[in-house]
Amino acid sequence: ADEKQHYRDKIKRLLRERNAVMVAHYYTDPEIQALAEETGGCVADSLEMARFGSAHPASTLLVAGVRFMGETAKILSPEKTILMPTLQAECSLDLGCPIAEFNAFCDQHPDRTVVVYANTSAAVKARADWVVTSSIAVELIEHLDSLGEKILWAPDRHLGRYVQQQTGADMLCWQGACIVHDEFKTQALQQMKALYPQAAVLVHPESPQAIVDLADAVGSTSQLIQAAKTLPHPQMIVATDRGIFYKMQQAVPEKDLLEAPTAGEGATCRSCAHCPWMAMNGLQAIAEGLEQGGKTHEIHVDAALRERALLPLNRMLSFAA
Ligand code: 13P
Ligand code: SF4
Repeated sequence: ADEKQHYRDKIKRLLRERNAVMVAHYYTDPEIQALAEETGGCVADSLEMARFGSAHPASTLLVAGVRFMGETAKILSPEKTILMPTLQAECSLDLGCPIAEFNAFCDQHPDRTVVVYANTSAAVKARADWVVTSSIAVELIEHLDSLGEKILWAPDRHLGRYVQQQTGADMLCWQGACIVHDEFKTQALQQMKALYPQAAVLVHPESPQAIVDLADAVGSTSQLIQAAKTLPHPQMIVATDRGIFYKMQQAVPEKDLLEAPTAGEGATCRSCAHCPWMAMNGLQAIAEGLEQGGKTHEIHVDAALRERALLPLNRMLSFAA
């Protein structure tokens, strides 16, 4: 406990000295989310993280999340220093969509509007017409469909299929997946629903179809927290990273929050209900990031890529406004 307090104090001091603010995702550990809030930063979904970071006057952003979130911050705010607790925090969606293969895919389908999820590299964003997050994916594709556009979607196949079903749009999907949401198990969830008949099921759309089919609400992390508030059920079965429980429980202190069942048990499953890359954002790593910056912690994005990737990101922010 003393060691944690030591790092918390150190982080607070370094944030002040560096004119820095923390931008944290809901999937980081509760102590990281609490510290972000306490120090005037934000805890948010990936769209709100992007908005908050670019609007905030601090000259340095400490992004507690995964690398694409740091890159997005840098693309939107090239004048700011973007630090991360580690540059090794990846995302299976980003890793599963390498730029050479993605370019070839786009080249084969020049008639399609390219829409990519925020969970991608700067290079993939630079190839896109639009960037989108799960909170506005359905609305954006509806809009593009109403203009008669055919879509090339990447990289998450589950989110792509969900959006396609909601909108009826003509979508060709890259076949990526999130290793965390892919682990939710249908039969076990059906059994759990039977065990808790009063519970609502909340599902992030990166989950497989059979899980989405059992949902009472489907949405981004922020939208799921909102659904926990508006649905009348006294219990919620939650199919997303368990990091979300911290803010969700604050939003509905009177409700029981239950983890949706996953393939493995705790330690036997590296990615069950907790993203291993989000878990890298510990107190010590944050303190080191703020203290050392530079090679090991600072996000850089090639200038030409950054300028190109800014176009679809700005389109996303204007559409969401
Ligand atoms: P949100 O946009 O819902 O925060 O999702 C980001 C993410 O990485 C989900 O796995
Ligand atoms: Fe990527 Fe899944 Fe981790 Fe989100 S939870 S950062 S989609 S691997």
